[in-house]
Amino acid sequence: MFQVVKGTRDILPERIEVWQRAERMAHEVFHLYGFREIRTPILESTDLFRQGLGSDTDVVKKEMYTFLDRKGRSLTLRPENTAPVVRAYLEDGRHRRAGLDRMYYVGPMFRYEQPQKGRYRQFHQIGVEVFGGKEPEVDAETMEMVLYFLDRLGIGGCQLELNTVGDETCRPGYRKVLMDALVSHQGELCRDCRERYRGNPLRILDCKQETCRTILRDGPFLQDHLCAGCREHFHAVQRILEDLEVPFRIQPRIVRGLDYYTRTTFEVTNSTLGAQDSLLGGGRYDGLVERFGGPAVPGFGFAIGLDRLVLVLSGGGDEAPVPTGIFLIATGGEVSRWFMKTARKLRRRGLRVVNEFGEKSLKAQMRRADRSGCSHVLIRPEETPGRVRVRRLQDGEQSEFDQEAWEEIVREVNIGKGE
Ligand code: HAM
Repeated sequence: MFQVVKGTRDILPERIEVWQRAERMAHEVFHLYGFREIRTPILESTDLFRQGLGSDTDVVKKEMYTFLDRKGRSLTLRPENTAPVVRAYLEDGRHRRAGLDRMYYVGPMFRYEQPQKGRYRQFHQIGVEVFGGKEPEVDAETMEMVLYFLDRLGIGGCQLELNTVGDETCRPGYRKVLMDALVSHQGELCRDCRERYRGNPLRILDCKQETCRTILRDGPFLQDHLCAGCREHFHAVQRILEDLEVPFRIQPRIVRGLDYYTRTTFEVTNSTLGAQDSLLGGGRYDGLVERFGGPAVPGFGFAIGLDRLVLVLSGGGDEAPVPTGIFLIATGGEVSRWFMKTARKLRRRGLRVVNEFGEKSLKAQMRRADRSGCSHVLIRPEETPGRVRVRRLQDGEQSEFDQEAWEEIVREVNIGKGE
């Protein structure tokens, strides 16, 4: 028998409800804030990610699913979706339109990482990108939106962690300060951080190893080395969040794993997640559109790890779906014909109908009804031709109807659903 590929998972029908609830809420809430959905391909050219995310990042160096197609072109299964959305934005000429362009997406991403709880090789993100807004209001409103989204889903224990990574004016100077501070500690750094020291020293700040954390416990932090523009932006974002009564915490270690960030970076952590506690992350990327050959259009966005969101929502266990609709049960003659006709009539009136085919005993049919996810059964008893019974599975309560009283049958099933 074949097995699912390591680090990937089936999301089975019994577990899908909570995924759909989260996705529905994203559509609803993001819509309220003026976002519209974009769907980009799962395959992109490898160079898009090399250039977009930076060739010194872990994602590009070690985690991409890259292969040559039949014509020898290097393609990659998207490890994230900001670079693809920027590509689509430019390819569609959207940068020529004035104003903010707000987009969101839902879909699978792929990273070759060591799988563990909350970390998979195929995982799913709900993400948003806003183009064309350099104002701190864009940062604050987008962060406020994601907290509202989590709130609407009833998720507690979330913490907004805020930081700034500066820009091309102040970051090079800070980089030097950081390297100077670390120069005498190089031997104490973990293997990854020794490598990061030359290529990407800022990443040492968010290393999870205790030794690396201790060395940088008291800084130096970029906050204290910002240029005037970045400092003003950082303070403005904080002021607006305070105005909006959005609680946050400054976390100088959030530098994020991708190279495109400038100024604001943030994460939302959740206390129930354990080691992989970052539920979502994002920030500002003012240079990325230019890096792809476009004009200087600022960008801001985030992506939620949907797999992690589902873990939080379901508390690790499965959420039993609410039973809805009706399961058809009949014995005697012309069963299939009755099944087909009845199901068609009721579905056209908006009722969920589950039927199975072939003659089976009443008992066998009742057992299947119990597993069908339906709240009711519709029974056509042999002894009362022309009459049917609607029975509520929960407590066995039942009523009898004329077998063609479609509207009444639908109404009976919908009672209790608030309809
Ligand atoms: P990221 O921090 O790499 O950012 O990923 C965002 C979220 O995706 C993480 O906080 C985490 O919840 C989830 N995630 C990442 N890797 C995995 C994995 N292997 N398994 C399960 N979940 C995972 C980005 O991807 C940026 N594109 C976000 C962004 C959008 N920045 C600006 N716009």
